[in-house]
Amino acid sequence: MAGSPPSRNRTKPFTPTRQWWKSATVYQIYPISFFDSNGDGVGDLNGITAKLDYLKALGVDVIWLSPIYKSPLADMGYDISDYVSIDERYGTLEDWERLLEETHARGMKLIMDLVVNHTSDEHEWFVESKSNKDTKANPKRDWYIWRPPRYDEQGNRPAWEYDEGTDEYYLHLFVTKQPDLNWENPEVREAVWKLMRFWLDKGCDGFRMDVINHISKVEGLPDAPIIIPTLPYQPGNDFYINGPKVHDYIKEMNEKVLSRYKNIMTVGEAPITHIPATLAEYVLPQNKELDMVFQFELIDIDAQGGMEAESPILWKPWRLQDMKDIVTKWQSYSREDGFWNSIFIENHDNSRSVSRFGDDSSKWRALSAKLLCISQITQSGTLYVYQGQEIGMKNAPKSWSLEEYKDVATINFWNQTLEKRKKTTGKSEEEIDMSDIMEGCQRKARDHGRLPIQWDSSPHAGFTTGTPWMRVNEDDWNVDSQINDPDSVYSFWQRALDVRKQNDSLIYGDFKPVLLDHPTIFAYTRTLEGGTSALVVMNFSTQSVSINEEVKRMKGAKLLLSNYPVKATGDQAWEVPTVLRGYEGRVYLRGECCGADACGCKGIQKSFRDSRIDTLIVFAFRLKFARKTVP
Ligand code: GLC
Repeated sequence: MAGSPPSRNRTKPFTPTRQWWKSATVYQIYPISFFDSNGDGVGDLNGITAKLDYLKALGVDVIWLSPIYKSPLADMGYDISDYVSIDERYGTLEDWERLLEETHARGMKLIMDLVVNHTSDEHEWFVESKSNKDTKANPKRDWYIWRPPRYDEQGNRPAWEYDEGTDEYYLHLFVTKQPDLNWENPEVREAVWKLMRFWLDKGCDGFRMDVINHISKVEGLPDAPIIIPTLPYQPGNDFYINGPKVHDYIKEMNEKVLSRYKNIMTVGEAPITHIPATLAEYVLPQNKELDMVFQFELIDIDAQGGMEAESPILWKPWRLQDMKDIVTKWQSYSREDGFWNSIFIENHDNSRSVSRFGDDSSKWRALSAKLLCISQITQSGTLYVYQGQEIGMKNAPKSWSLEEYKDVATINFWNQTLEKRKKTTGKSEEEIDMSDIMEGCQRKARDHGRLPIQWDSSPHAGFTTGTPWMRVNEDDWNVDSQINDPDSVYSFWQRALDVRKQNDSLIYGDFKPVLLDHPTIFAYTRTLEGGTSALVVMNFSTQSVSINEEVKRMKGAKLLLSNYPVKATGDQAWEVPTVLRGYEGRVYLRGECCGADACGCKGIQKSFRDSRIDTLIVFAFRLKFARKTVP
């Protein structure tokens, strides 16, 4: 557990303070691909409003809207040209207000994407900034990060972008159309606080904060050392990730904005860092910064070259052991001090989890999508579900050519690699083998998560009556065919979210791995103070696997959820498997505290002192289960 101590050794399970956003299920909407209400091929706000009942029925508590602000869409809206107006492709401010009202009317909340590490180069702040380099005459010059030209001995230009008009370069950590804001400038920070207040005053319920750990840059903006000589530009992570003033800035944001609004939630996107202690700085309640962050250690599990990779598209096989270690590390981290996780396995920057961590062949697709659902709903943290995950949407077919891929990151990486290969081999474009890059795109391009949602079996899967901005996957999986099918992935998610909501141990319980060294089984317990304990067993392979004695002796426990049909025998005794079939997963509840002296809770707690599962199972026999099993 690099650089960070696990939770202290305890004799009793610890239950964190309960908060509404901890038990919430957040559903991420990538608006352009969700639902098109007006036939222009682009998803829109009215399309989201039209589907609110669908989301409510699924069990969603909070909607996170990826950016819908005015934008040239160079990075699909993560390049904002006006923070306080809606891009006309998505609708109007009135449409947004109606969406908010209808969301609230259904008892759900709405959080917005806050993208303030950078703006679009078409934002009026940047247009003004670029207009004149004289900081006295141009008060916005210093809102971005400008430097005069500087070339090395070979005459190489910097990685920054050159602006002819003022003969200076500006810093952009992402594409050239996304200049970085200068957070050192207090006026910039005030402008950010103002736009945050604008949305909060309108009633939005919080923010997901884009690359928030990038906002503070190391003083002097030094050159990155050359660590990958074949690359024209070097990774400069150390110079801007979790930079020297980032916590000052977020504390100021909390003090001046967040703390002034009740019942909001915040989640910061914090890529690159895998060290819990570093990310805990953003999250621990005494620091008064954010409620939680997205950390990407699990998502980086199949990235070739790790965090310094040329592109996350370059794929390497992932190992279950690594997944188990990563989950265990974060689940166990600093709970008593208030560290809180965000649980997710998909978003708009990633390919589909069933294709990536499951098996999307027709035989295993539904089972492995359900297994992944179990892995998500049984972890401690706020749960995030990405649009389409609930119906087991998979990656685009391998037969699709590069033209179907629209993401700027995919296209740029392809072109850069092609250029590099042309230079190093002297071959023509046609002669160069790009099959490895194509394979990476097929497995991991961000495009897969951005395919339009498949609603029904009509043309373009009912996403639009026009021409979709991006091709729709042609498989016959869609919402309409799943919604009334009790065996579908959708129905499973719906049940699973309810099981999570009904069982606090799955949200707040202490995490303890079981069978940590088993090559294909991922298993753990989740235990609340007072004794209630869930056991989760998941087989991450297509092969049947005998399960260890400890797990077999779960007789008498209540089965909460299973992705295979399970027959009840007798009144309450569910078959306990001696073998887990391919991609089989189960969740058991092992006991509830009835509060009476004689109920056995003391015994349960004693068993934690022993920390031996078999002791716990013996005591579990003596317990009465308050609820009927509804797997
Ligand atoms: C975040 C977004 C991603 C975007 C990048 C730059 O990582 O999730 O989509 O490209 O920031 O804004």
